[in-house]
Amino acid sequence: MMASTYPLAGQVVGRVGFGAMQLPGPGVFGPPRDRDAALAVLRAAVDAGVNHIDTSQYYGPDIANELIRESLHPYPSDLVLVSKVGGKRDERGGWLAAQNPDELRSGVEENLASLRLDQVPVVNLRRIEGSVPLDEQLDAMVAMRDEGLIGGIGLSNVTVGEYRLARERTDLACVQNGFNLAMRDSADLVVECEGDGVAFVPFFPLGSAFSTTNPVLGAPEVLSVARRTGATPAQVALAWLLHLAPHVLLIPGTSSLEHLRENLAARSVDLDAEAMAELATVAPAPIRREA
Ligand SMILES: NC(=O)c1ccc[n+]([C@@H]2O[C@H](COP(=O)([O-])OP(=O)(O)OC[C@H]3O[C@@H](n4cnc5c(N)ncnc54)[C@H](OP(=O)(O)O)[C@@H]3O)[C@@H](O)[C@H]2O)c1
Repeated sequence: MMASTYPLAGQVVGRVGFGAMQLPGPGVFGPPRDRDAALAVLRAAVDAGVNHIDTSQYYGPDIANELIRESLHPYPSDLVLVSKVGGKRDERGGWLAAQNPDELRSGVEENLASLRLDQVPVVNLRRIEGSVPLDEQLDAMVAMRDEGLIGGIGLSNVTVGEYRLARERTDLACVQNGFNLAMRDSADLVVECEGDGVAFVPFFPLGSAFSTTNPVLGAPEVLSVARRTGATPAQVALAWLLHLAPHVLLIPGTSSLEHLRENLAARSVDLDAEAMAELATVAPAPIRREA
């Protein structure tokens, strides 16, 4: 039977969590089209047993965290809120790097204030290539964990080499890289995290909201397995990830109650060997990235 929970930063979380990136307005910028609906999605997620929510101060900016605070504070004791630092937005919604150690600290402080927390349970260091050396950033993250501002340190958008370097310096709670049926260049890292007992949390599990033609939900293999199993394409995409290994934790993003329920029901979608083999052909064999 498939495991339904996995440890994350000292708590045990359900393997299907929730990603808050779809809650702000279009382009993850500004207020939601329907604020009450966004609040309802967050409450429904927790009511349905979700205890792992992924967010960021720069979703909105500020908006996703404010919605989480308004709908869920005071937080259930088992809720693991995971935020990230390393980015910021310009006044038109452009995505900018904020990778210096002092910017990482400001990012954590902003999360503490907007989420109304004394400690953010987990903070991912969201790396942006070509910027500040990783060891300087890790020193800043470790210092903030030592001070109690963050409970666990995660990494996002890293190579296997960066992951290994970080593991030599400190414990890690999780790794969050882009990964889905059609995008598998972090496959080596998925395997390495499993061996180390570190949660792997794929972002873009459904193929993301950023592309007009969705390479996951529109893949013929996904549609074929969905027809055969009676599951929806989104459920097939999520169930495939759940079947990979027990340390894979999901944070599908949605602004819709209907999609939320559909995504949570992926927990009980069983994929047999034939379905897994067919889905394996959605993407070519994983590219081995240079460490
Ligand atoms: N570390 C990073 O750099 C990073 C980057 C990106 C994302 N993330 C995190 O990862 C989470 C997941 O990624 P994501 O939200 O960008 O992409 P995603 O989960 O792959 O896909 C979200 C898109 O799928 C749609 N969707 C959701 N459920 C659906 C369903 N059942 N059927 C059909 N469409 C469905 C959503 O639209 P509706 O709103 O209409 O449902 C939205 O357009 C984010 O929420 C965020 O927390 C992290």
